[in-house]
Amino acid sequence: MCGIVGYVGRKKASGVLIEGLKRLEYRGYDSSGICVQHGGSLVFRKRAGRISALEEALADAPEIAAGTFGIAHTRWATHGEPNEANAHPHFDDDGDIALVHNGIIENYATLKQFCLDKGHVFHSDTDTEVLAHLIGEFYHDGASSLEEAVQLALREVSGTYGIAVMCSGEPDKLVVARKGSPLIIGVGSDEYLVASDASAIIEHTVNVIYMNDNEMAVITPDSMRTVTIDNVPVTKEIQQIEWSLEQIAKGGFEHFMLKEIFEQPEVVRTSLGGRLDLRDMRVQLGGLGEIVRDLVKTHKIILTACGTAWHAGLVGEYLFEDLARIPTEVEYASEFRYRNPIVEEGTVVIALSQSGETADTLAALREAHDKGALTLGIVNVVGSTIARETDAGVYLHAGPEIGVASTKAFTCQLVVETLIALMLGRRRFMSQQSTERYLKALAEIPDKIERILAQADAIREMVADYVDHDNWLFLGRGYNYPIALEGALKLKEISYIHAEGLPAAEMKHGPIALISDGMPVVCIAPRNATYAKIVGNIEEVRARKGRIIAIATEGDEQIEKYADNVIYVPDCPVPLQPLLTVIPMQLIAYYAAVARGCNVDKPRNLAKSVTVE
Ligand code: AGP
Ligand code: GLU
Repeated sequence: MCGIVGYVGRKKASGVLIEGLKRLEYRGYDSSGICVQHGGSLVFRKRAGRISALEEALADAPEIAAGTFGIAHTRWATHGEPNEANAHPHFDDDGDIALVHNGIIENYATLKQFCLDKGHVFHSDTDTEVLAHLIGEFYHDGASSLEEAVQLALREVSGTYGIAVMCSGEPDKLVVARKGSPLIIGVGSDEYLVASDASAIIEHTVNVIYMNDNEMAVITPDSMRTVTIDNVPVTKEIQQIEWSLEQIAKGGFEHFMLKEIFEQPEVVRTSLGGRLDLRDMRVQLGGLGEIVRDLVKTHKIILTACGTAWHAGLVGEYLFEDLARIPTEVEYASEFRYRNPIVEEGTVVIALSQSGETADTLAALREAHDKGALTLGIVNVVGSTIARETDAGVYLHAGPEIGVASTKAFTCQLVVETLIALMLGRRRFMSQQSTERYLKALAEIPDKIERILAQADAIREMVADYVDHDNWLFLGRGYNYPIALEGALKLKEISYIHAEGLPAAEMKHGPIALISDGMPVVCIAPRNATYAKIVGNIEEVRARKGRIIAIATEGDEQIEKYADNVIYVPDCPVPLQPLLTVIPMQLIAYYAAVARGCNVDKPRNLAKSVTVE
């Protein structure tokens, strides 16, 4: 996520840039930086931590304060720890080209090797710095202008970017481009602003141009022209910003949680990006490095986490045992840490955590370390404590998750677990054709999530009919049993309705006594080997006057005979079903909470990251 701001005009750039960064803080940040043209050179400051740290650094940089042309960035790290060296802007070797970037350069390793072979020297661990050197390489190797060097470089890039580039040799010229990361241009009087979203622009102008993918703009104080990265001129219309600041931060959604539910197709694509290779039909997980060999040989995986991440671990148990045939256990971190667990030789312990700071999960990880386990992290926040203390890991690339109830981070945890399970499965017993079938199906998941999200209004209307009930049940089997637990947790934590998730077959061992007239029971019943069994559970509930909300596979008309309401999800291989069946769980909980007037983004008694015991 994160934020870019650029300014070309007559005002003092640093004030506009810093205020713009503050307006973008909601997009998440772990470090920030600014670069301003001063005479014939580029002057910059970068700091880890809050934007106020950068502001303080400017106190002894009068040359920055004087400039009227510059760029700035708040970073949400994806490649390289969140520290001062990795903060943006990044420069080419000569220091005469400065660049800030939002997104991920997926083929950065290949491009970095190209630059290293050309003698470039790198000063950070980021993917972004590679792009700065590549632009510098083309700029000093015959490009006729900065914009041509940028075009030549971007044609080599695979991944996502929103960039702003400046060059001391071409003063007062700002080159911007986007692909997959948002970028807009504010058109003022004798000034232009560039930003990741309108919140950084709105106090200067409401006239904006929305850049599209593969477009770029060349901006000076007196002119702006837009072209594609293939240098084909593009006509862009100036539009007016009609949103308030708060609406902009939430992307027009009422709550961050709903925005993050709807971000899932995009963040799943980002989480898969560069890792799911459909050309060679294989999985590439650079973050695992040399330990893949140990993973392939292990006879035991233990997944440990808390809350929603623990539910992701339960799905992981099915994935690792089903696809990789590796015995797997799932442990509540809070239990594992105190139980003096048995951790046999060669065991791999995987910690799942969105924040990477959950105290119980960190303690469980340390216990695993002390017992000699090889440890992995599946974490969203780059450079977080859990990420730093594991032997290796895979980042979610879900972007900042602001809503307290985890949604997009959960689906990205499932994505990463599936990628690891398929990689290990292929190196152990899985055939190439089975691997290809799963990888192709995985690539289709973002579009299938979009088809479910398109039912949001119908789900909102349906939920309104159930919200007066204070006790719900969620039932699932196999891969979808953890999704029943997740559905119950989502409903509890944001609508305060009591809910319980169960393996459906457990109903007859007691919980069926709970069924009362009209009690909502959510049954996850996609097409799979246990479909007939869960239809039997549905009939048991209906015989006792419970009301059924079924989650079923598109085209299943039989289910309509038994359910009061049906939410359809597209078909997919059973191991991938949780990626789809969880979406209705999130929407049901969200709309129930809104209907009950709850504080969806900040539910009572809850914190986004439980860093205490
Ligand atoms: C998720 O909706 C909850 N807010 C909570 O259970 C959360 O999943 C749990 O605290 C673990 O957090 P983590 O993923 O940051 O470690
Ligand atoms: N991938 C880049 C980095 O890790 C940019 C991240 C961002 O969008 O802030 O520095």
